[in-house]
Amino acid sequence: MIIVTGGAGFIGSNFVIDWLAQSDEPVLVLDCLTYAGNLGNLRSIEAHPNFEFVRGDITDRPMLDALLARTQPRAIIHFAAESHVDRSIHGPSAFIRTNIEGSFTLLEATRVWWSALPETRKSSFRFLHVSTDEVYGTLSATDPAFSETTPYAPNSPYAASKAASDHLVRAWHHTYGLPVLTTNCSNNYGPFQFPEKLIPLMIVNALAAKPLPVYGDGRQIRDWLYVGDHCSAVRAVLERGRCGETYNIGGHNEQANIDIVRTVCELLDERRPDPAGPRARLITHVTDRPGHDRRYAIDARKIERELGWHPAETFATGIRRTIDWYLGHADWIADVQSGAYREWIAAQYGQGRSA
Ligand code: NAD
Ligand code: DAU
Repeated sequence: MIIVTGGAGFIGSNFVIDWLAQSDEPVLVLDCLTYAGNLGNLRSIEAHPNFEFVRGDITDRPMLDALLARTQPRAIIHFAAESHVDRSIHGPSAFIRTNIEGSFTLLEATRVWWSALPETRKSSFRFLHVSTDEVYGTLSATDPAFSETTPYAPNSPYAASKAASDHLVRAWHHTYGLPVLTTNCSNNYGPFQFPEKLIPLMIVNALAAKPLPVYGDGRQIRDWLYVGDHCSAVRAVLERGRCGETYNIGGHNEQANIDIVRTVCELLDERRPDPAGPRARLITHVTDRPGHDRRYAIDARKIERELGWHPAETFATGIRRTIDWYLGHADWIADVQSGAYREWIAAQYGQGRSA
């Protein structure tokens, strides 16, 4: 069986749903259910005979020791993290705790358990660490895309905490021989993404005729990948990746934020017209994110060449699927827009952030 940390979050839940649709191998989700973790994301598989959920925190060493001894996984896929850059600017301590201390605790528990395995099981075990392109810092308009050898230069507390965890994973391989794999992926979008991130925030605000807050000039560039393609890349790395290697994952889809927001508006206008007029009228430029990285771009040639992975969705197909999913899941949106969500929106976009 495999253990998936953070499997109640956005990417982890997509990964687990896809896994059970394609494999007979049992999967256990370990997640402490922060504001971003949502059991509702796993509702479609909660009764599946090959699925188990354990509520637990990756900083809890005794819990991890007991879980590993009981379940004897053949792989751990480590998604659990604090993942939102703006929250890391407001309050970095949770990022240090989960992304650094939690990854360290998980690595150590895994190493101690793994060290006692028979040789054949030791060599077939995998620890796959899911990381981000933000560890490489920012690019100018003419810089080449991030490759696996681009030096680390994280700029936000979130990116720094993920970079630290990548270094720990690397060291646990180099020093102890733990069979690790690391993936560094670009911006994901798709079903179950919490509406604090750009695309789902724009969809839910546009549907509610609220302002669409674009940071600064909106010309910052991200490389967008449909979440299902990230999941297929993680599966490819798990099955065919070389231990100790890192693999960049990206969608060959660089776009400026303002263009993404305009596309979301146009597609919503097409599918659910607003009698008050085109949604682009709601676009509002607000104060920029401190230390905002200007451009990310991924050179994904290594995973394409070595593992034969390619994204299945274009942005045109992926964004339509995503918008249709949100239009069909008003109940999910209402559920996640809890009291805690409203407090975050008020703190981030309220009086402190001017248009
Ligand atoms: P998310 O915030 O939606 O989900 C994170 C999950 O981790 C939640 O279910 C949360 O409850 C859980 N979690 C947090 N702290 C925990 C702890 N201490 N113990 C156990 N569980 C805990 O995040 P996401 O967007 O799905 O990202 C998943 C991973 O992928 C992260 O490691 C992130 O850095 C990485 N990543 C994300 C993107 C993206 O665009 N979203 C891109 C590249 C890489
Ligand atoms: O690149 C991978 C990373 O992508 C992941 O590691 C992170 O977990 C994930 O959150 C994401 O980080 P970003 O900061 O790029 O994503 P976010 O959706 O927060 O913002 C995307 C861009 O849109 C960014 O340039 C900031 C801008 N933005 C965001 C929000 C929430 C706005 O202009 N307005 C907004 O309200």
